[in-house]
Amino acid sequence: MIWVALGFGLLGLVALGLLAYWQLVIAEGTYLGPRIVALMYNWSAKAYERIKQYSPGDEQWFLGIPLARSLELIPAPLVLDVATGTGRLPRALLRQPPFEGRVIGLDLARRMLAEAVGRTAQFADRLTYIWQDARNLPFDDDTFDAVTCLEALEFTPAPREVLVELVRVLRPGGVLLTTNRVGRDAKMLPGRAFPREEFKDTLRQFPLEDIKVQVWQMDYDLVWAIKTGKPRGGGVRPLPEILRCPTCTGRLKRATDGFHCPSCHCLYPIAEDGVIEMVRGKPLS
Ligand SMILES: C[S@@+](CC[C@H](N)C(=O)[O-])C[C@H]1O[C@@H](n2cnc3c(N)ncnc32)[C@H](O)[C@@H]1O
Repeated sequence: MIWVALGFGLLGLVALGLLAYWQLVIAEGTYLGPRIVALMYNWSAKAYERIKQYSPGDEQWFLGIPLARSLELIPAPLVLDVATGTGRLPRALLRQPPFEGRVIGLDLARRMLAEAVGRTAQFADRLTYIWQDARNLPFDDDTFDAVTCLEALEFTPAPREVLVELVRVLRPGGVLLTTNRVGRDAKMLPGRAFPREEFKDTLRQFPLEDIKVQVWQMDYDLVWAIKTGKPRGGGVRPLPEILRCPTCTGRLKRATDGFHCPSCHCLYPIAEDGVIEMVRGKPLS
């Protein structure tokens, strides 16, 4: 009898181990909610780039050069990188000499942003980082010439909701660059990663055209698209002209120590390293 109990106990432990491995290692906390995902990225922020080992040549070839080319008709394009992590996309793009625009990088893991600030210090005058959830982008509609979101949709609770936000803030004629998780582990991310055709079909439900899937890495396809509608405007604009309050969607004003919402009276502080901390926003007492 004792051996049966021990056997069941052992089986239970193995099952628990496998469940934990799936939830924490493969899914990186995505089924446990955004707070857990952010916590896990905060823990691994310092080691992140060592683990990823980006090749500067590949980063230029697959990201920096094609994105800069797609924006070459705009004198100073404005780009938003959602889930920017340690600043991989800003770095790849700002290194391109023809690109004379600005980049805003947004992420939910504060320590990833702290790493990003350090790793992109040479471009600080053309870069702003914002601590905020991708599901509620604090910008006006039709604002950016390009919106990018790499290797991140599958870690959000509802990738479709994030896509709605990415497309909302992209201006007509603007470039969307995102990724879809593929490969072996994608099958273990139900509801977060999608078969190639299904992801394309999902994008077709948005005001997007010229949708192109490009085989990229073992785990990710790159996906390019253009927002439909008559191209207009474009280019860099000052932050107070494009930032909106994530609490009430009112227009934000620059205050001495951050951004202030005159409608709901929330203050969003700017930290010492320059990161705008939307997540820490609270009403002024
Ligand atoms: C695999 S990393 C990719 C980082 C970067 N895009 C790159 O390609 O190196 C995923 C990033 O998504 C961020 N992330 C996950 N969920 C998020 C959310 N709901 N809002 C904003 N960022 C999120 C994580 O904090 C992490 O930095």
